[in-house]
Amino acid sequence: MHPLQQKRVFLPAVLIAGLCASWMLSQGPGRGRDAFSEPATNLKVLKVDNPEDLRPIMQNFGRSLNVNCRFCHDTQDFAKDIPHKETARRMIEMVNQLNTQIFTWERAPRATCNMCHNGSVYPQFDPPSQGSAEPATRSAALQAE
Ligand code: HEC
Ligand code: HEC
Repeated sequence: MHPLQQKRVFLPAVLIAGLCASWMLSQGPGRGRDAFSEPATNLKVLKVDNPEDLRPIMQNFGRSLNVNCRFCHDTQDFAKDIPHKETARRMIEMVNQLNTQIFTWERAPRATCNMCHNGSVYPQFDPPSQGSAEPATRSAALQAE
């Protein structure tokens, strides 16, 4: 090929490769692409009309347990079920049951994740022992076993 001709082929090729690379980067979940930009494909208990409605729900989970998305998700694939996510799903069912079957008296409060979690993954099972400022945590109870 003539050197000049080569240049003509080369330049557009570089441009196209560059465009492809930036497109691929912007498509990769967790980098740029928003988790809530597409309809959810694996919701088993939550019901939302719009994927954007999941955002405040997920943020609320995170704040209630003091964890980030990664605790419950494979952030490359939010639809994938992993152990913490599956437990969280059971917890959502429990909270739904509390609200529909137990908290049914007049002006009953709405059950929330935070009412038990209060900013930690493992709620406290036992009341603090008398005269002790130390909270009785589950991990402390497990250590004692
Ligand atoms: C405490 C665990 C927990 C945390 C923290 C959490 N999620 Fe979730 N998330 C879930 C569960 C459980 C589901 C599935 C709910 C269902 O089955 O109805 C879900 C579903 C989703 C879905 C829908 C996936 C699909 O296609 O089905 C997206 C997107 C999502 N979460 C994004 C996030 C983002 C972003 C964050 C951080 C801001 C986050 N989540 C934090 C538990 C969590
Ligand atoms: C009635 C109290 C209660 C409520 C309400 C509650 N949880 Fe929990 N949650 C627990 C307890 C107790 C544990 C510890 C379970 C254990 O040690 O196996 C726990 C543990 C978890 C864990 C960690 C489990 C694991 O995988 O190790 C996740 C995630 C979780 N809860 C998510 C949620 C979410 C999300 C909500 C709200 C939808 C919620 N929980 C509401 C009591 C509660």
